[in-house]
Formats: sequence, C-alpha cells, structure tokens
Amino acid sequence: MSPSSSSRRSFLKASTLAASSIALRGSTLLAQATQADARIDILPAEPIGTISPEIYSHFIEQLGGVIYDGVWVGTDSKIPNIGGVRRAFIDTMRAVKAPVLRWPGGCFADSYDWRDGIGPASKRPARAGFWDQQDNNQYGLHEFMHTCRAIGCKPYLAADLRSLPARDFYQEIEYCNAPAGDVPCNSAAKAVPDALASQRAANGDPEPFNVDLWGVGNESWGCGGNLTPEEYAAEFRRYTAWTPSYGKKPLRFVAVGPNGDDVDWTARLFKALYANPERRHLWGLSVHYYTSGSAAKFAAGDALNFTNDEFYDLLTRGSIMERVITDHWHAMGTTDGQPQVKLVVDEWGAWYGKGTELAPEYNLSQQSTMRDALLSGITLDIFQRHADKVAVANVAQSINCIHSLMLAQGDRFTVTPTFHVFQMYLPHSGAQAVRAEFSSPSIANPLANAPIPVGGNSYRGSLEAVKTLAGLSGSASISPSGNGKQVTLTVVNPHLDQPVTTEIVLHGSSIASATGTVLSETDIHAHNDFDHPNAVHPRPATVGQPTAGRLLHTFPAASVTTLQLTLA
Ligand code: AHR
Repeated sequence: MSPSSSSRRSFLKASTLAASSIALRGSTLLAQATQADARIDILPAEPIGTISPEIYSHFIEQLGGVIYDGVWVGTDSKIPNIGGVRRAFIDTMRAVKAPVLRWPGGCFADSYDWRDGIGPASKRPARAGFWDQQDNNQYGLHEFMHTCRAIGCKPYLAADLRSLPARDFYQEIEYCNAPAGDVPCNSAAKAVPDALASQRAANGDPEPFNVDLWGVGNESWGCGGNLTPEEYAAEFRRYTAWTPSYGKKPLRFVAVGPNGDDVDWTARLFKALYANPERRHLWGLSVHYYTSGSAAKFAAGDALNFTNDEFYDLLTRGSIMERVITDHWHAMGTTDGQPQVKLVVDEWGAWYGKGTELAPEYNLSQQSTMRDALLSGITLDIFQRHADKVAVANVAQSINCIHSLMLAQGDRFTVTPTFHVFQMYLPHSGAQAVRAEFSSPSIANPLANAPIPVGGNSYRGSLEAVKTLAGLSGSASISPSGNGKQVTLTVVNPHLDQPVTTEIVLHGSSIASATGTVLSETDIHAHNDFDHPNAVHPRPATVGQPTAGRLLHTFPAASVTTLQLTLA
C-alpha cells in the first residue's frame, strides 16, 4: 500500500491552482480538469544548462572483486578478454557510452604508489592495500589506460596525497602526459633515455595518456589523512602548484570535498583556498554521497530483503542528493560568488549492509534490485536538473561493489537494473536541460523518524528533510540535434502499487507524437542474477496519441520511464 493518504485528484486540482500562482517566470500554468493524477509542465524557454556527458561516469577501485576478477581476468584467462580485461566489462561500458572512468580509488588511492603498477608484470611487487587484501599489481597504470582506450572513455586518476610526497604527483603527471620522444631541455639536446616519457615508452606506451582529470587525494577528512579543511587547502595548493601541463588545455584538478552533507567542510575549504590567489587549476569540488536506509535489522539495510517502508525510506534519503548539491553550491558561492568551480559527485549509490555479497572475499559487493533502478533514475534526474552545477558524477562502483551496473564472478556475468537506467538516460547526454515542473501528491516517508545509520557518507542533517518523497520526479532536455523539436523526458514513479496518470504539457509548443521505454516489474525486489541475467529489462512503453498538443501518459507503479517527445 502506498503511504500516501491524500486524494490524488483533489491534490492535483489544488496543486495546479497553487502552481499557477507561484513563480513560473514567463509561463502560466493552465488549471484544467483532466483525468490525470499528476501533471508535468515542461518549459523549453527556461534552459538550465547543457547536461555534461560526464555525469554518467564510472569508478573502479582495488577493493573486493572489483579489479580482480571484475575488470582484470588476465591475458591467459579462458574468460573472454581484451588484453586481460574482461570483455563483458568493456562491452557493457561501451553500451552505456561510459565517458570517464575513475581509478585507483577511493580510499585505496591514498596508500597506492603508481610506480608499483608499471614495468614487467612479473617484477611488480605485491602490496597490502587499504582494504586488507593483497594487490599483486598485475593491474596497474598501463592496464588501466588500455581499459579506458578499449572502452573509449577518459581516464580520471585519483592521486595519493596521504602517503606519497608532492613530487610523486607531478612525476605521475609527467609519466602520463609528457610527449612521446621525451622533452629535451632545448631543441639541440637529445631525449634523455631514463626520463619518464622514455620509461613509459619502454613499458609499452610511447604515446602520452593525456590524462586531464586528476583527483588530488580522496576523502582527506577521513581515510585520506584525517585533515581539517584548512590543512587540506594547504596540501592542495602545495601538490598542484607548478605541476607540468604539457598542454593545450589546463589540467582539471578536483579538490577533496565534503563527506555527504558536511557544508562546513565546503565553506571552510573555499575560504582557505580563496585566501590565496594561487589556486592553479582548481576545477572541481568532489562530493561523496551514499544512501543507506534506516532499517533496524541491518545496520544499513539489506539489498534484497526489504519492506515497503524501507523501500520508501531509501528513496527518500537518496533524494537528499538534491539538497546536497544545492547546499554545497551555495557554500561555494559565499566565497566564489558565482562559482566557477564545478561539482564532481565522485561517488554515489545505495550502500547496504552485508548479506548479499557474491562471496566473502568480494567485499562490498551487493545485489541490486528494481529499488536501485529507481534510485538511479532519481539521482540522474537530480544531476540533470542541476546541469549548471554538476559537471562529473561517478556511480560507485561499476562492477562488483555497492551500486554496480555489473556483477561478475569467474565466467559468470550479469548486468543489473541500474545498467538499464544508465542506457535509458543516454538521450539526455549533451542535451539542453530545461525546467520541468512536476505536480503530484508526495509520499510520506514511513521511517522519517528512524535513526540514521552511522558511517558511510549518508545524510546526517535535519530529519525534516527526509519526511517526504516526491510522488513523481524527473527531468527534461532538448536534444542538440533535432532542431529543438526533440524533447527527452525521464520520470520515476516511486509508488509501490499506484500507476500515476499524468498530463504532460509543453509550454510554447505542442506534442505531435511520443514514444517511450519503461523499466518496471510487479515485484520491487526483482533483480538479475547469474542464472537469470535478463529477468529485469526495459520494454517499449505503451504511449497514446497526444490530444490538442498534450500527452496523457500512465507511469506504472515503481517504474522508470524515458519518453521521447516530438514537437509539432
Ligand atoms: O566506494 C567505497 C569507498 O567509499 C571508497 O573507497 C571511499 O572513497 C568511500 O568511502
């Protein structure tokens, strides 16, 4: 049963009338009696910004079964691979047009020496990594770059700020980016054979990797060094000052941002950074926000066994991402005026307690259900609605860890419902986000007053914020091709048992036709596993003909929908 108690039709009437009196800059909502339960007003004249393709990015770390065996199976493996990288991983990343892949961590990055992972594989040392599992370094810098090349995505490196000196950071940049043939000190001089570019060539890659996106540490308030924002600001400046850039374009340095909703970190960090005019290449602020439920039985909720109340609670807490983004943006703005620095949501996803891992050594692997598909839709819609603020976002993590798109163990493999949502949201990539107003009754969170679990990067702010969940949410964009006549609308209906019939109105235009795809299952616990890799998959949506330029569409209960609207 949906916990919503208000009458939907009466709500709609009230909310539509109310909406007509609120600020809709230049637009007027028409209060019309229809058979609809909800209404979506798309306002093409109110652009938000271009949706960065990099908000659909990814993250892998040497943790549990992510690298070994999720990504790296080895060149002599019977598992289909490209140069040792699992072929299914590459194919799936290509299928979602992965734009960026972040590595080597996460917390792992801050005790990782990139030099351990280069050179002949047989000579590389084994090390005890951050997550208490030995890393034999068979997957290192070159293997990561080859993975990115095979996928066709950009590499994003997280540098070790806690345990390596600043020199290793700029030398890593030199190793990755110095031009082929090396950089002699003048045109008459010869290339130096042991210079870093020559070492890179000797290790198999004469051409530079051209890495432009660099994380300067990871979670420096925690596993990355337990620093204060002021201490980190000084380190950021020291590590990034006078780094080589070799380039036409400046490097993009991402400073360590807050733990979830810790706005104090952001405000103090920006104050400290802006106290000194030298902020070379400060391009982005990293935000980590994971969603954990407040179930009593498991510390952070269970990935597969959850009640209806826990379902609503998790989605409500996931929706806090919107507040996390706007709160940090405002905190940055108090120093930066109109912020030039962009938000980089480096890690996001639903993080549950133990119980569904593939095997004990697959630390932090968890199953992924339709609930996670809805959380993915809600989250990507938030990023799209804030296209002016969020430049990069990486789901954590791509395979075998937390909110994965893929699960793999040996020769067994499946995609998760989250993979399908990433594919369904692709039409938004690079499109112009426009304002869309959703009017529908909200859902009361039945666990609003439950204690919030300790740990992770969850929301720890006011309980007020977790009282209600939007009854329908989504985002709209105008395709860059299509002469302004193609609109993508993505919508999440979180009601467990209530389809929502919705009137969709395009201000200043009319809808000529529409098609759609929907991800929806009768059981919200539905998921894919190795024996049923296609149990959850999207289907064509049943979309009617528009009437008088408006579309009446029914969003099934607990569903994610993409509609393609063609304007007259
Ligand atoms: O993604 C798992 C871990 O979560 C990362 O290593 C860390 O950055 C975060 O706390």
